[in-house]
Amino acid sequence: MLRKDSPLSLDEHVRTSLQERHQDEHNAGHLYDRVAERLYHEGYAGLAQHFRAAAAEERGPHAQRLEDILHAFDIDPPHPRIEEPDLRDHETALDLLYLAWNTEAELARRYEKTKALAAENGELAVEAMIDAILESQLREVAEARALYRRCESAASDGTGLMAVDISLAAGPAAG
Ligand SMILES: [Fe+2]
Repeated sequence: MLRKDSPLSLDEHVRTSLQERHQDEHNAGHLYDRVAERLYHEGYAGLAQHFRAAAAEERGPHAQRLEDILHAFDIDPPHPRIEEPDLRDHETALDLLYLAWNTEAELARRYEKTKALAAENGELAVEAMIDAILESQLREVAEARALYRRCESAASDGTGLMAVDISLAAGPAAG
């Protein structure tokens, strides 16, 4: 039997952009896995736990948000490729935390571009859905900023990063 096409079509540029954001979320997940490993090996069990939880969130619910949009148009996103993150220029634990902040900020920028593209091409439902994602993405940026600044202060006023690490290990796993 001939399979009928979806009666709801999606602009090709918008589709590509959504698929790129899907890959971005997976990339962030792989990055945070590596960050977690490095921090764990350096003795930061609490920070490692934070990034392991973050990695699962990126590849799980965050990637799912994009899949949900594409599925509404009867599109299956391609399986994400695994890219080995490059941590060579990020030597210290603080460098890694800054990298995470930067990663979330870059994601916000990219979602803004996808949203603008959707508006330009008259995909208003997609624009609205990306707008909702963008709101939660900005919260992710704020959380990454807070963690970085907290550790930065701890590292410079002598209380030490390890104290932050221990409080993270004691508290509930943060996203
Ligand atoms: Fe994410």
